[in-house]
Amino acid sequence: MKNILITGGAGFIGSHVVRLFVNKYPDYHIFNLDALTYAGNLENLSDIENKPNYTFLKGDIKDYELIQSFFEKYAFEGVIHLAAESHVDRSIANPLEFVLTNVVGTVNLLNAAKWFWKDNMAGKRFYHVSTDEVYGSLGDEGFFVESTSYDPRSPYSASKASSDHFVRAYHHTYKLPVVLSNCSNNYGPNQFPEKLIPLCINNIINNKPLPVYGKGENIRDWLYVVDHARAIDVVFHKGKNGETYNIGGHNEWTNIDLIRVLCAIMDHKLGREFGTSENLITYVTDRAGHDLRYAIDATKIKEDLGWMPSLQFEEGLEKTVDWYLNSTAWLKNVTSGDYQKYYDKQYQNRN
Ligand code: NAD
Ligand code: DAU
Repeated sequence: MKNILITGGAGFIGSHVVRLFVNKYPDYHIFNLDALTYAGNLENLSDIENKPNYTFLKGDIKDYELIQSFFEKYAFEGVIHLAAESHVDRSIANPLEFVLTNVVGTVNLLNAAKWFWKDNMAGKRFYHVSTDEVYGSLGDEGFFVESTSYDPRSPYSASKASSDHFVRAYHHTYKLPVVLSNCSNNYGPNQFPEKLIPLCINNIINNKPLPVYGKGENIRDWLYVVDHARAIDVVFHKGKNGETYNIGGHNEWTNIDLIRVLCAIMDHKLGREFGTSENLITYVTDRAGHDLRYAIDATKIKEDLGWMPSLQFEEGLEKTVDWYLNSTAWLKNVTSGDYQKYYDKQYQNRN
């Protein structure tokens, strides 16, 4: 049995990756290391928590000695690193936490793997999961390819770009067997409702305003989270050492168009008159430094590794809405207490 460490497995994307690996690979033992920050939630994994090839490890990637002790105890042969502070608005409010978790935390993991694998790197793999935001912002045309120069513009993307550079530096300098991927915006079940789609779903349910930053003309390229998890599986197993793979949905939407589609789906599902949810749309002060457009060219992963998205956006959105409407207890748990404080502070000065 191979021991694989997945970091951030209690979060949105991580929980889908853990589920896929635990169910698909009974000959792997999956260790999910997560600090359970506000974004980490073990409820996301209740369906697989008792599987014999799954273990949860509570721990902070900022704590090097703890990580080292886990490597020593469980002799990991592979790492899939997703743990991160992931919300751009929070990074604008508190950049240092992003440096500590995303940069220092990643370097701690690299150091632990380098130390533990120093005598034999054969068959080992350190997979760093990153974002398309490291490439900066596009104008009306063009796509991010793997060779696009880095141009991070928010504290979040600067911290992810920095961690990507460290991962490549460890490959170059110490021959650590690494692979990276940079993915576009994910959506789907279990996403914390601070991000656009679940925030709007939650607010529509509760008849609260839908805060659209600026004019709502910014463009994102949306991918269903299970398709991202499938891509991570493919890159982990078939990707070449030292390589980077861009992952995206070929699915660009302006925020305002996306919110309108979501409103129509929600009106239908909630049995409300068409147009009810759109009336909640409220234009608010723009995000500082708001990137205009992200769009991924995913040709390399398609041609080299045979991965493609499987779901159409409307189908994925419907599945997502259904999940939130059927998960009222989950939503209630994550939106009480600290979430309310965050929400009030984040949106109080936007008008
Ligand atoms: P998330 O915020 O939902 O989850 C992050 C997880 O990491 C949580 O479970 C949290 O408890 C854990 N974590 C945070 N700090 C930690 C620490 N110091 N030690 C241990 N665990 C810690 O994030 P997500 O949206 O699932 O993103 C996962 C990864 O994928 C991130 O690296 C992110 O940069 C990347 N990514 C996200 C998207 C997206 O659209 N959400 C797109 C591309 C790439
Ligand atoms: O591109 C990948 C990235 O996508 C990931 O690396 C990040 O972890 C993830 O959070 C996401 O970043 P974005 O900033 O694009 O996602 P967010 O859901 O915060 O915002 C999507 C768009 O919607 C963006 O243009 C800002 C806008 N927005 C967001 C919120 C929360 C609003 O108009 N109103 C809002 O209330």
